[in-house]
Amino acid sequence: MIKKVCVVGLGYIGLPTAGLLASKGFDVVGVDINEKIISTINKGSIHIIEKDLEEVICKAVNDKKLVAQSQPCEADIYMIAVPTPFRKTESKIPQPDLSFVLKAIRSVAPYLKKNNLLIIESTCPIGSTQKILESIKKISKLDESDINIAYCPERVLPGNILYELQNNDRVIGGISTKSSNHAKSFYSQFCSGELIITDSKTAEMVKLSENSFRDVNIAFANELSMLCDTVDVDVHELVAIANRHPRVNILVPGCGVGGHCIAVDPWFLASQDEDITKIIQTARIVNNTKKDWVVKKIKKNVFELEKKLNRPISIGCLGLSYKPNIDDLRESPALDIVMDLIKANIKTLVCEPNLKSHPNMDLYKIEDIILKADLIAILVPHKEFYNLKLPKNNTLDFCKALCS
Ligand SMILES: NC(=O)c1ccc[n+]([C@@H]2O[C@H](COP(=O)([O-])OP(=O)(O)OC[C@H]3O[C@@H](n4cnc5c(N)ncnc54)[C@H](O)[C@@H]3O)[C@@H](O)[C@H]2O)c1
Repeated sequence: MIKKVCVVGLGYIGLPTAGLLASKGFDVVGVDINEKIISTINKGSIHIIEKDLEEVICKAVNDKKLVAQSQPCEADIYMIAVPTPFRKTESKIPQPDLSFVLKAIRSVAPYLKKNNLLIIESTCPIGSTQKILESIKKISKLDESDINIAYCPERVLPGNILYELQNNDRVIGGISTKSSNHAKSFYSQFCSGELIITDSKTAEMVKLSENSFRDVNIAFANELSMLCDTVDVDVHELVAIANRHPRVNILVPGCGVGGHCIAVDPWFLASQDEDITKIIQTARIVNNTKKDWVVKKIKKNVFELEKKLNRPISIGCLGLSYKPNIDDLRESPALDIVMDLIKANIKTLVCEPNLKSHPNMDLYKIEDIILKADLIAILVPHKEFYNLKLPKNNTLDFCKALCS
């Protein structure tokens, strides 16, 4: 029997998931609170940059397997893929903001029937699935034994989402064996990776631990890069040589850490126990410090060149997104760096090949920046910046974008 799936939240995770499910034969209703996103999708188009996604969505909409709307409806399976940002509070640890998830849950709860399955894909702090169960018990008229919920965190890589949705292993944390088995049977219809069942708390913590692991390792590389600058050693040569050791694998440093996941999720772990999560908190601080360090470094170079040329200069900044070859600006260190330079009244020319425009600045073509800028800072190693002919003495490469 063809199943109907209601995907709530049509962003970087929900939209590719909805498109993939439609391509596998499910009837999919995508729900979003943003009317512009709904109308874009219903025209068979997309509002984000993601490899091969536009074709998948266009076909799904034309085949009438996917429709986007503003309200949930009756379905067999509900998937929640709304944002889980953090909130800055008086505490030094930013706190997880579950309000989007809880609002989405309240919107689907009245439609839940016996034997339906509710899947939470949004990244959540430990204990959220249990909280969601309590919230549903209050709204729906179902007995607890008839409610099926599974926490199945999404761990795909932006830029390769359609592939990873089908091929990654998945962790499934049901509130009961029935819920887990239900979710396993659903994912097995479009996911060829291993489907690993555990309890909901472990599943919640697995996702947070994976991203914290990445954050800690990147912090080590970023700390080394700043130290290398102090002692005048090329960090990339250092890392390449050190990584010849069979048990060493130092990552490549960059401008900091951004995105909706790695820059956010470690705080969810730290917020569980402030006293015993020192490494996790320190990694966050180091990765945030790195972008301030980059700003200082750029300003120093700008002032030195202005002094030498005896006139104000312009700096070309290459890249705004939080990682290469995507348009996502969430928590992007490159965006923060550019905004700091603009605030300091430094004439800043920005190139972001994955965006058409930005509300706070003009965007330039790379050729114009090469012509006009006195100094260039490579902030994100987009493929368009590889092998550019840039002036070696006046280029600051913070991400090893292989310029010749
Ligand atoms: N982007 C990633 O690479 C990635 C990877 C793994 C996991 N995640 C997690 O997946 C979740 C979703 O992330 P995303 O990147 O897709 O976010 P997103 O911001 O791109 O998309 C979320 C969408 O949800 C919509 N929305 C918000 N509240 C809603 C509601 N009540 N009802 C319906 N729609 C609503 C928003 O309008 C938006 O379009 C987050 O928890 C994130 O941490 C993201």
